[in-house]
Amino acid sequence: MTKSEMAFAERKLFVERWVKSPLKVASVTPSGADLCRAMAEGAGAAAGRRVIELGPGTGPITAALLHAGVAPSDLLLLELDDVFAHHLRTRHPGVTVVEGDARRIGRAAAAHGWTGCDAVVSGLPLIAMPLSAQVRIAGGAFEAMGPGGVFVQLTYGPFSPLNPALVRRLGLVGRRFRWIARNLPPASVWVYRRRTAVN
Ligand SMILES: C[S@@+](CC[C@H](N)C(=O)[O-])C[C@H]1O[C@@H](n2cnc3c(N)ncnc32)[C@H](O)[C@@H]1O
Repeated sequence: MTKSEMAFAERKLFVERWVKSPLKVASVTPSGADLCRAMAEGAGAAAGRRVIELGPGTGPITAALLHAGVAPSDLLLLELDDVFAHHLRTRHPGVTVVEGDARRIGRAAAAHGWTGCDAVVSGLPLIAMPLSAQVRIAGGAFEAMGPGGVFVQLTYGPFSPLNPALVRRLGLVGRRFRWIARNLPPASVWVYRRRTAVN
């Protein structure tokens, strides 16, 4: 399959899964290249960095992380949708793909020896999720990471995708890392880290 045939097939798969589960997939098209690159930059993606990706879908951010130098063996993907999970296993051999709920990130990280990792990158529809889910996802992500770990989240909205009260409660600081106009829809990349890692 050529690159453009693969891109077409992935867009088609994405729309099919969106039709089946519009609230979970939460977008009609995979993230564009500029947004995926910004997500990888926000995570400091490079050789030797160990990364967990939540809600990878068809894997455009996965591809950007690999392109930035992250080794396939240093990447763990946690995806709820079984068809996306199957696609990711075929598309990115060597990457660990876990079919499951991002709310169980703590369990998945421990089971696969990923505790102490460097970054958690999320394409989840976080703002549409209840606060209890955000608590488990963000809380679990920071438990899975080392002290300097970063949580990187995309959003189509103007505000912090992580609830500000939760950001304070977890002792985090967050900032908009990049705004990407050339994406459908335009999107922002937010990066959160522990307050103690900033001071
Ligand atoms: C907006 S799409 C983003 C897909 C991809 N990261 C991208 O940027 O193109 C959201 C993704 O999160 C997945 N997802 C939604 N809820 C999830 C959950 N609780 N746990 C794991 N994945 C979830 C969906 O199946 C979908 O792949």
